[in-house]
Amino acid sequence: MTSSILPGQPQLAYRGEQLFSEDVSLAALAREHGTPLYVYSKASMLAALAAYQRGFAGRRVQICYAMKANSSLGVLQVFAQAGCGFDIVSGGELVRVLAAGAVPAQVIFSGVGKTRAEMKQALQAGIGCFNVESEAELDVLSEVAVALGLRAPVSLRVNPNVDPKTHPYISTGLKGNKFGIAHEEAVRAYRHAAGLPGLKVVGIDCHIGSQITEATPYLDAMDRVLDLVADIEAAGIAIHHIDFGGGLGINYNGDTPPAADALWSQLLAKLDARGYGQRQLMVEPGRSLVGNAGVCLTEVLYLKPGEQKNFCIVDAAMNDLPRPAMYQAYHQIVPVTPRHADDTLYDVVGPVCESGDWIGHDRTLAVQAGDLLAVLSAGAYCMSMASNYNSRGRAAEILVDGLQAHVIRQRETIEDQLRHETLVPR
Ligand code: LLP
Repeated sequence: MTSSILPGQPQLAYRGEQLFSEDVSLAALAREHGTPLYVYSKASMLAALAAYQRGFAGRRVQICYAMKANSSLGVLQVFAQAGCGFDIVSGGELVRVLAAGAVPAQVIFSGVGKTRAEMKQALQAGIGCFNVESEAELDVLSEVAVALGLRAPVSLRVNPNVDPKTHPYISTGLKGNKFGIAHEEAVRAYRHAAGLPGLKVVGIDCHIGSQITEATPYLDAMDRVLDLVADIEAAGIAIHHIDFGGGLGINYNGDTPPAADALWSQLLAKLDARGYGQRQLMVEPGRSLVGNAGVCLTEVLYLKPGEQKNFCIVDAAMNDLPRPAMYQAYHQIVPVTPRHADDTLYDVVGPVCESGDWIGHDRTLAVQAGDLLAVLSAGAYCMSMASNYNSRGRAAEILVDGLQAHVIRQRETIEDQLRHETLVPR
């Protein structure tokens, strides 16, 4: 018998008494590769992408995967082969994505603090667009481009000042945020950009936040951005593409974000009604393409009963999976091989020496030391935010494709960590 555990994610299911990713047993993967171990389903990523592709059928659109969500080469390769463009935020991400087979012209470069070196690197690679976030950045980018004898394609990230109703650390489209150019200043900034010798205005973009679970903030942001497009074009500056950013949420714990196709049918109706339906469009989804495609497997090391709490100490920690510690984020935790025993209430915690090192609070589990747990919805912003805190090596990663399990990243060793460090000579 097969039973799926996350709605809409048939790739992750119990077959009898064992949790599988596609046709691969997670217990077998953990035995072979050790824990903590990230496992991603290729079919799940492609299904998430297909929802966007359905939503945009018949439109001129470039889907640029926001690779900060998960920048492992094997994951990037899946999206490159599926024809995606990419949204990058550093020179490092540029090198990675080109190594994974991205088409440079389909790469857009976001972020508030691009360095001159990164601008040069991206201009030389021939990327499609720089999403610029301030007038000061426009000046520097123009200078760098002129020095290379090039013109940089630019879009200005405008700040629509709408509340995405998400965690404050991941809302980005409000007035008090460091992101984007204020609505009121946008036309002036566009005039400035159009007058600079090293720039070529190509588009407009916005991104209002992440893990958004309602359509309204998107609809409001679209209205604000389209108002600006009208004003900018009235000033004689043509806008070739409109980029609506990323941000669509996923189901972590009963969250009910709209499906990408349903969201986009609403948004495209508005775009059509306002007469912009035939424009070249762009989106920058990250989490919604990979979040529910990944699990993190971890082994129970010890059970530690306490006076106030019982602790289930596992071998994955805040360095491997930082979202709970950073945002009090909720990730479901399920046994890889369920036991038929009484449930106990546990705090699932890692071995790092901090009280903030927890993976889940107040979870009901029937477990023993040596059991495997799967932390769900761990495909986005988990491995890509992993660190070496406590000198812990980063986890290995597996990409499952049907019956096959490809190692896309080997477990980091202590030798890897020490390679770039030196003792001071005496
Ligand atoms: N475009 C821009 C300009 C962004 O800043 C981001 C995410 C995205 C696209 C992709 O957003 P998504 O579709 O993934 O929501 N570490 C946090 C999330 C930070 C998001 C940063 N920007 C977390 O774990 O929840």
